[in-house]
Amino acid sequence: MSSLLLTGIAELVTNDPVHDGTPLGLVHDAAVVLEGRTVAWVGRRVDASSADEVRDLGGRAVIPGFVDSHSHLVFAGDRAAEFSARMAGESYTGGGIRTTVAATRAAPDELLVANVARHVAEMRRQGTTTVEIKSGYGLTVADEARSLAVARQFTEEVTFLGAHVVPDEYADDPAGYVELVAGPMLDAAAPHARWIDVFCERGAFDADQARTILEAGRAHGLHGRLHANQLGEGPGVQLACELGLRAVDHCTFLDDEDVAALAGTGTVATLLPGVEFSTRSPYPDGRGLLDAGVTVALATDCNPGSSYTSSMPLCVALAVREMRMTPAEALWSATAGGALALGRDDVGVLAPGRRAHLAVLEAPSYLHLAYRPGVPLVADVLA
Ligand code: NIG
Ligand code: FE
Repeated sequence: MSSLLLTGIAELVTNDPVHDGTPLGLVHDAAVVLEGRTVAWVGRRVDASSADEVRDLGGRAVIPGFVDSHSHLVFAGDRAAEFSARMAGESYTGGGIRTTVAATRAAPDELLVANVARHVAEMRRQGTTTVEIKSGYGLTVADEARSLAVARQFTEEVTFLGAHVVPDEYADDPAGYVELVAGPMLDAAAPHARWIDVFCERGAFDADQARTILEAGRAHGLHGRLHANQLGEGPGVQLACELGLRAVDHCTFLDDEDVAALAGTGTVATLLPGVEFSTRSPYPDGRGLLDAGVTVALATDCNPGSSYTSSMPLCVALAVREMRMTPAEALWSATAGGALALGRDDVGVLAPGRRAHLAVLEAPSYLHLAYRPGVPLVADVLA
C-alpha cells in the first residue's frame, strides 16, 4: 500500500485532544501520513517521517471531512415558490412535504439517482465526506423501498422515514398508516436501511405513534432517531432520551426538562440551522445546550422544503453567528459531533487508524469557515 505525506499544513484540526488538550486537537505546522484510505500518523511537520509521495499544501488548514448526519436527498422537484412565499410572510408548517411526495412518486428511478448524485457531489465540493440520507418522500411501500435503495447507492447511513407525514390517501385513517409503516413498509425498508426515523410533531406523528414505529424498527434491527421539537414544544426530545436514541434532530423549541433529559443521556442533539434560516424561525439555543453539557451535532437537513442547502460551512457560520457557538464548537459539532450522531468511530477524527477523510481549506485557519461566510473555502477533499 502506498503512503502519502501531506506537509505545509499551517493548522490541522484533528478532533483528538491528545495534541493540545482541547476538543479540536489543533496542531500547527503539521503533517499527516495516509496509508491507502487510512490515517497512519498525524503530528508536527518536524516529527514526520518520509512517505512514498509528498504533497505540500502551501500553508493551508486541514480539517476532518464534515459528517452531515441529516439529509433528505431522495426527492424530485423543488419548492422555490414556497420559499418565496415564506420570505413574504407565510409560515412553514410542513404541509409542503406532500408536494414533494407527489413529484417523487412520479419520478423515474434514474431521475432520483441523478438528483442524489448531484447533491452528494455538491456536498463533497463543500467538504462533506460522510452523509446520512433519509427516505420520506415516497410514503408507499414501493416508493419508500426504492427511495432507500437509491440512497444506499451513495451511503451506508440510510434512514427509513416512512413516518414523515400521513399521505393524503390515509388522511382519514392515520392509525392505518402507522400500521402500514410499522408493518409491510418496514418489512420492505429494513433490508436497505440502518436507521429508522419519525417526524414527531403536531400535524405529523404523536409520541405513541412514534414509539410504536421506533419499537417495530428496533425489532427489525434498525436504530432509532427522531425529528422533534421543530415547530413547537412537544414530547419528542424526551421520548428520544427515554428510548436511548443516538440522536434527536431539530431541537428548536425546548423547555428546561428537555434540556435536562438531553444532558442526562448520551442522546446527541442535532441542530439544523439551515432550517431556521430558510423558514425564518427562531434558532435553537446552541449555547444553552452546550452550557448544560449536551452533546451537539450540526447538519444541513438538506431537503427541498425547510432547508435547501448542502453546505456544512454555511451551517458552521450560522451556528457561530446565530446560536452563539464558538467557531471551535461549531466545527467540532459538524465533524466529530456528526460522527457521534451516527454512532461512527471511524470518521470525524483525524488519528491513526481512522479513515483518511479530510478537507483542505483555502485559508490558514478553520476560523475562516465562520469568519468568511459564503466563500467557497474548500480547496480539496480527500476521501
Ligand atoms: O427535517 N421536519 C420534517 N421534515 C423535513 C422537512 C421536509 C420538507 O419540508 O420537505 C425537515 O425539516
Ligand atoms: Fe429533516
